[in-house]
Amino acid sequence: MNSTKQDKTETSSESNEDSRSSWRTIETNSLFADRISDVPKSFIREILKVTVSESIISFAGGLPNRDLFPTKALQDASNFVFENAGSEILQYSTTEGYLPLRKFIAERYALRGLEINPEDILITTGSQQGLDLLGKTFINEGDNVIIEEPGYLGAIQLFSVYRATFLPVALENDGLNIEQLKQVSGKKNTKLLYTVPNFSNPTGITYSTEKRKAVAEELNGKPIFIIEDDPYGDLRYKGENQLSFKHILPEQTILLGSFSKTVVPSFRIGWIVASKPIMDKLLVAKQASDLHTNYFTQRLLHQFLVSNSLDSHIKTIKEVYGRQAEAMVSSIKKYFPAEVSFTLPEGGMFLWVTLPKGISSMKLFDLAIKEDVAFVPGNPFYTQKLESTNTLRLNFSCVDEKKIEEGIKKLSLVIKKLLNEKL
Ligand SMILES: Cc1ncc(COP(=O)(O)O)c(C=O)c1O
Repeated sequence: MNSTKQDKTETSSESNEDSRSSWRTIETNSLFADRISDVPKSFIREILKVTVSESIISFAGGLPNRDLFPTKALQDASNFVFENAGSEILQYSTTEGYLPLRKFIAERYALRGLEINPEDILITTGSQQGLDLLGKTFINEGDNVIIEEPGYLGAIQLFSVYRATFLPVALENDGLNIEQLKQVSGKKNTKLLYTVPNFSNPTGITYSTEKRKAVAEELNGKPIFIIEDDPYGDLRYKGENQLSFKHILPEQTILLGSFSKTVVPSFRIGWIVASKPIMDKLLVAKQASDLHTNYFTQRLLHQFLVSNSLDSHIKTIKEVYGRQAEAMVSSIKKYFPAEVSFTLPEGGMFLWVTLPKGISSMKLFDLAIKEDVAFVPGNPFYTQKLESTNTLRLNFSCVDEKKIEEGIKKLSLVIKKLLNEKL
């Protein structure tokens, strides 16, 4: 399959932007709200702009593999709802979301031993909107958010819009550094801890159950909610499932989920699991945002889910991603210099590489792109503005095994070149 075509889609909105600049005749900068002026443009989009060439092997994107989208089954589901539900599917609907879809989600949680009432599930426009609603609901300017570092860029951007102060805690191979967590969790106005405990974006790291329990023990009883963002949890191709924070500290956990990685991202269907007092506020926040998530896609998705096996579809995704992850790990072991370390993901779409100290992944990017291979330098996944880091994110979901080996081999040559320059 062609990886670069997928990246092109992600950057398509960028090209329009430049052609629009000509009509900017009034000085708008002084009119923008502080909350938006201070937040930088997505760094990844800037990076992806230079990775669109067909010849580039791109480990830079973060997209699910579109070859695996259940296109025909979704088309059938669409025909079915049009034929059977008629114009009702085109009407406004409730803010909470389509109840049968919320029931479907609750039933899947029950299979994992989580008793969730469908009333406690709010359908959102992707889990990204879930995050936005939580930011809107909880964060006053200057409130503290504890965040794993490196962490999900979309969350850093989002909480920055609400002018949160970040309390970064280092992410180790099995989860948060507990000593650092202890230092920050008692700070005044600390309201949220944001974590992606399964196959994190950007690192691919999964928290061990012990670490989850240690985090929960530290936060238990403190006025802090854990936001457990779990878009990748179903994509485990190796190892054992770990307990959710929702199992360990249910009262203090707000769960986010998504169909973006297990069905399709374009529907923009995700959800929040939260208790009633929080849900009441989230409903107000959601009404003010968009009234409700696209009702037609909720109905279409639900029809797909009841007339197909989601588990067998997920199994196919896991087989492909598992093979691709394996190809990346074995190529790294084969070609990268021994001084380079990397994570061993058991699921998800990403792997994280740490170069020897003093080697800049930005510099590596500039050289790698000349050799037709791309990745995302680590900088945007940290809450501080960093000139350079020695870390980088590699995505393996959209590149086939042969290309993965070819790309990693090319990258290894550039890394070796930089290492030799340092000597
Ligand atoms: C950790 C994490 N959270 C949330 C999202 C947003 O996903 P959605 O498509 O459900 O909005 C992503 C997307 O890549 C992600 O990696």
